[in-house]
Amino acid sequence: MRTFETIVSGIRAMMLGSAERSQKKEEIAMKVIHCVKYGSHRDLVVAEVDPPGPPQPGEMSVRIKTAGIQFSDLVRIAGDYQEKSELPFVIGGDAGGVVTAVGDGVEGFRVGDAVLTPGGCVERVNVAARRVTPLPEGTDLEQAASFRNNYATGLWGLQLGRLCPGETLLVHGAAGGVGLAAVDLGKLMGARVIAAASSEEKLTVVKTLGADHTINYTDGFRYQVKELTGGRGADVIYDPVGGDVFDESMRCVAPYGRILIVGFTSGRAATAKTNHLLVKDAQVIGYTMGGLSRHDPEKNRANAEILLDWLSHGRISPYVSHRLPMDEIVEAYQLIVDRKVIGKVMITT
Ligand SMILES: NC(=O)c1ccc[n+]([C@@H]2O[C@H](COP(=O)([O-])OP(=O)(O)OC[C@H]3O[C@@H](n4cnc5c(N)ncnc54)[C@H](OP(=O)(O)O)[C@@H]3O)[C@@H](O)[C@H]2O)c1
Repeated sequence: MRTFETIVSGIRAMMLGSAERSQKKEEIAMKVIHCVKYGSHRDLVVAEVDPPGPPQPGEMSVRIKTAGIQFSDLVRIAGDYQEKSELPFVIGGDAGGVVTAVGDGVEGFRVGDAVLTPGGCVERVNVAARRVTPLPEGTDLEQAASFRNNYATGLWGLQLGRLCPGETLLVHGAAGGVGLAAVDLGKLMGARVIAAASSEEKLTVVKTLGADHTINYTDGFRYQVKELTGGRGADVIYDPVGGDVFDESMRCVAPYGRILIVGFTSGRAATAKTNHLLVKDAQVIGYTMGGLSRHDPEKNRANAEILLDWLSHGRISPYVSHRLPMDEIVEAYQLIVDRKVIGKVMITT
């Protein structure tokens, strides 16, 4: 028969065992930010899950340190994206981290290398080596993780818009992710850049980062653009906002001008009237990065290499206005909703 003491010591041992187990679990569990239902960023969940095991052949393990989030995630979280993501999914996109293990058959990477990887807001990932980009020595990990998608969007847009040195580039939403990238790239490509945004604070930063002229477009912009261009208008207009901003752009586009349709943060996709395009000798060009990677992956890769080279040589300057921990993911997305972000908001993991 068991005595009272043996029962108590048995319970104590069981308790100790479970404490040890939960401590061990804490050590090996990792954090991930999951979208568990379509709707609002307020419903995002910071979950604890088991980390991935050792990498499979052809893969590597990466400890993610910083991951970017962006406006388009909100569309995905709402379930309004062209291709719906299966629930639950990890939010975020490009991430920067350090290689912790290399699977069989992987060449060119070593443990400790700084890399760019897909993965989003999660502490650890196993990922196919071909999807990982090694960073040149001395490249800032956060800047690198923040820049790729925005700058790739900017570069491909300005290429499609055939921006030439000496031309005038008007950038809307110029302090936003893709907008600020277009300002930076437009300057590098030799254009005169007019940056339009909604607050003096944003315009000050954009000016510091190289814009030649700034316009607060809250009350319209066409007269200012006409004045700055001697009545001619802008040769290329980069438009991630749409709606009224697109409508007004049609009134200050130069002859043979090109308006790039990048997105619709205003919430309205405007209608381009073909008779207006005809009388203005103007073009409207829509594009997506998904389209480029599907239809011309070589060009996509070549552009990514050019951009990484420019970044590592300090020729472009990605800007991060906010960095928040994973536990503050709702606040981080709220900054995007409230139009407070300049350049990019990063999540430290
Ligand atoms: N075509 C592509 O392949 C591609 C690639 C990436 C992103 N995108 C799209 O490009 C757009 C911009 O993305 P992003 O990451 O640059 O976004 P972001 O960093 O949030 O910047 C968007 C900017 O839009 C302006 N804006 C105007 N009306 C707004 C509103 N009602 N709500 C929020 N912002 C508003 C804001 O500037 P002000 O406050 O100064 O007006 C803001 O800075 C999105 O529609 C995204 O889906 C397209």
